[in-house]
Amino acid sequence: MYRTHHCGELNTKHIGTAVTLSGWVQKNRDKGSVIWIDLRDRYGITQLIFDEARTSETLMPLAKTLGREFVIQATGTVIERSSKNPNISTGDIEILVTDLKCLNQSKTPPFTIEDDTDGGDTLRMQYRYLDIRRNPIKNNLIFRHRIAQLVRNYLSEQHFIEVETPVLIKSTPEGARDFVVPSRMNPGQFYALPQSPQTFKQLLMVGGMDRYFQIVKCFRDEDLRADRQPEFTQIDCEMAFVEQEDILETFEGLTRHVIATVTGNDPGVFPRMTYDDAMKRFGNDKPDIRFGMAFGELNAVTQQKDFQVFNQSELVVGIAVPKANELTRKDIDQLTDWVKRPQIGASGMVYVRCLEDGSFKSSVDKFYDQDDFKAWAKITGASAGDLILVLSGDTQKVRPQMSALRMEMAERLGLRDPKVFAPLWVVDFPLLEWDEASERYHAMHHPFTAPKPEHMALLHTNPSAVNANAYDLVLNGNEIGGGSIRIHDKTTQSQMFDLLGFTPEEAKSQFGFLMNAFEFGAPPHGGIAFGLDRLVAILGGQETIREFIAFPKNNTGRDIMIDAPSAIDQNQLNELYLNLKTIE
Ligand code: AMO
Repeated sequence: MYRTHHCGELNTKHIGTAVTLSGWVQKNRDKGSVIWIDLRDRYGITQLIFDEARTSETLMPLAKTLGREFVIQATGTVIERSSKNPNISTGDIEILVTDLKCLNQSKTPPFTIEDDTDGGDTLRMQYRYLDIRRNPIKNNLIFRHRIAQLVRNYLSEQHFIEVETPVLIKSTPEGARDFVVPSRMNPGQFYALPQSPQTFKQLLMVGGMDRYFQIVKCFRDEDLRADRQPEFTQIDCEMAFVEQEDILETFEGLTRHVIATVTGNDPGVFPRMTYDDAMKRFGNDKPDIRFGMAFGELNAVTQQKDFQVFNQSELVVGIAVPKANELTRKDIDQLTDWVKRPQIGASGMVYVRCLEDGSFKSSVDKFYDQDDFKAWAKITGASAGDLILVLSGDTQKVRPQMSALRMEMAERLGLRDPKVFAPLWVVDFPLLEWDEASERYHAMHHPFTAPKPEHMALLHTNPSAVNANAYDLVLNGNEIGGGSIRIHDKTTQSQMFDLLGFTPEEAKSQFGFLMNAFEFGAPPHGGIAFGLDRLVAILGGQETIREFIAFPKNNTGRDIMIDAPSAIDQNQLNELYLNLKTIE
């Protein structure tokens, strides 16, 4: 038996007990006649003591040779510590070792296995198995497991059935590129890895499963960011015989249960906002509503004077930054440079200081008077001590610019508290978006999303005006889930493919299986998928999902530990009928 206990459980109640522990050497403090070793396993740290007076002579030399990360087994008696450590659960006791075995040696690790490590990102990913020994990553993985369990149990209790869907499939359009897998048995043909199990879950509804979920890997070949990985995990769900309201209610229940259990605070009823409102008030379809600073549109009160910059702008929009009148002129100049950086792209920024005496001082005093500024303050909700920041230009450009500025100011003012959770449903998304580059419509969610029934008539006359029964769940400014009510009849689905620029032949060859299924009694259905990695990261107080994935990819999509992707040998290529000459 390697152990009787683990390293996180012994305390004063165990004093006098003979125990055996196994684990890794965290630290070896050799004071000559006394040696202390901190022994670590997943559960915690227990101090071992060897001293010349009480430990057998043969053990002392062995104890001295044990370096960091050696794997050892120690048997001994639990004794009370003379100097206690209140910071760890086992801090009142130590083990007076009577038997010791070195189970395996270790090279000196390339970074310290401590909460604050000296390892950079690359090193940590290269030796991820060592990184996982560190508390922050280990605890993140345990946290992820806990949330996955909560979700599984909750949905199972609500009569959802977990069904596995295939990984070698045909392309599903979720807006990213597919990862493809060549088929040896079908020369020149390829599978695609699922961007999501979308079509399969719909077919499960046609199959009468009624309520489905799956915690499932999805694959998307897209540019990576802190909240995106090429393979990630969805909590994928679908329900039959439901309307949008049923879905929102069911999954608000799930999310509330998870948040309340994990944080101890019930977030209450989730607010809802239409897509149009979100864009107008926050310049963004995933607004962070932990703080205010909603946009005030100022066209009506700025375009009556001689300030040509505003007069020529499609949109003039301001936010009131709370208590930011404290910023110096230099701070504001720096902020102006910040919005003018190419990543943000604003052409300039106007500010108005709301002084304590109720008057205003602005960078455009030449053009506007105190009454004008009073109107600006009213619209943006500014009060004495605040700073109004104003941007202007084309609506499509200014909104994201202002959104970035709002987030930046919130960050600087410490308003993005990771311990506060503000969920929000964004509803009534447009069905389609016009893509200038390809000069055609794209499905805003995906091509299986149903138009709002009352907008069906507009589908041919004014497609841009059609809204969908589509919704996103936003948590602290991050899209953690999205879904829709689906089309469940062949005619509408064909119309949709037609609008999206598919010829009938293309639609048939790619999605014939789905449209055929719709001819065999498809029930009305809808669903949602959550990004598990994102949900876990945000509830864990972070936005970088990599920290919550056991073996993540770096930002060029590489797994640098196993060195993938990598070249494969010519024989393998030949077998797959792949001729790489074109790449050379
Ligand atoms: P959608 O494309 O919105 O919907 O994806 C659902 C959720 O998955 C998460 N997500 C990601 N997480 C990490 N890395 C990525 N690359 C990544 N891409 C998406 C997001 C997102 O909200 N089939 C539909 C769902 C449905 O209609 O039911 C779908 O996949 O949190």
